[in-house]
Amino acid sequence: MNAPEPGLPMVVPADGLPARVRIHEVGARDGLQNEKATVPAEVKAEFIRRLAATGLTTIEATSFVHPKWVPQLADAEQLFPAVADLPVDLPVLVPNERGLDRALALGARRVAVFASATESFAKANLNRTVDEALAMFEPVVARAKDAEGVHVRGYLSMCFGDPWEGAVPVEQVVKVCRALLEMGCDELSLGDTIGVATPGHVSALLTALAEAGVPVSALGVHFHDTYGQALSNTYAALRHGVTTVDASAGGLGGCPYAKSATGNLATEDLVWMLRGLGIDTGVDLGSLVATSVWMAAHLGRPSPSRTVRALAGSGADSHKEQ
Ligand code: HMG
Ligand code: MG
Repeated sequence: MNAPEPGLPMVVPADGLPARVRIHEVGARDGLQNEKATVPAEVKAEFIRRLAATGLTTIEATSFVHPKWVPQLADAEQLFPAVADLPVDLPVLVPNERGLDRALALGARRVAVFASATESFAKANLNRTVDEALAMFEPVVARAKDAEGVHVRGYLSMCFGDPWEGAVPVEQVVKVCRALLEMGCDELSLGDTIGVATPGHVSALLTALAEAGVPVSALGVHFHDTYGQALSNTYAALRHGVTTVDASAGGLGGCPYAKSATGNLATEDLVWMLRGLGIDTGVDLGSLVATSVWMAAHLGRPSPSRTVRALAGSGADSHKEQ
């Protein structure tokens, strides 16, 4: 047991957990796409640069989707080249071949397709049925794999519940996961898009996926904190051997389909818990808090992250800038 440093929790490891977790930072994409304000490309680029300086190694940058569907990310062509020199992985979302063409033209080396476990969300998000969306992704994944070394992530939304359909059967989720892996996706991200999951449900899904032959090393988790369950759910996933966790700096973002949703799991809250468990992330919490405080000033509202609120102004965010 190590004594805590200022602004950090006491380190008390627990059994049955991984030694290291890779954080897949989604604030610049999933966070900002759901903010009311449209942030200028220069500010987004500075945000990504500051995130990279905190030690984060995977920073999702933007989406090459139809600008009318997600106006907040319509500046992808301007933003991506402005951060492409950073020594970190910069995944981008591509829904179809048009999106892939745009991403590859700018030198993207990591792309993500985004499927849904439910028909209602597939329609709302992609204007397709689940199967039509999978058919749309097939050539995207095939071509990305052909373009030497391009890594493909497959997101799966509504894995634990859907605002229109209610409960989502585990078998339905397993089926779409298998389809994405068989298509050639290198990793999957299991999304609790409206934040309704609880730890037993997470455990049940991960058990079902293991029984279906899906290796846990190919799985990441993507929790929303709508009902305050994101960290509990993350802990359950870690106990199953998951080592990739999605999070959003400052808890940026929300879900347009869940009223008063508090958005993605905040990266700071995640880092606080992992640090306390003695799990390495490589992230400097103080400089991450300072980055979220800086971004919150641009958005004109405080960060919803409990850890940011606790540490902002405490002196722990030592790299705080004006
Ligand atoms: P559609 O209207 O069916 O498109 O939308 P289409 O294929 O019929 O094409 C219509 C027009 O759009 C055509 O132009 C295409 O060229 C153009 P026209 O010929 O009429 O001039 N077009 C494009 N333009 C730019 N970039 C493109 C592109 N594709 C077509 N990539 C489409 C289908 C998939 C395009 C649309 O539904 C779309 O862009 N959807 C994206 C929505 C989105 O980004 N949602 C947020 C993702 S977040 C998420 O899913 C959850 C996640 O965050 C996890 C979680 O939080 O739980 C991952
Ligand atoms: Mg999200």
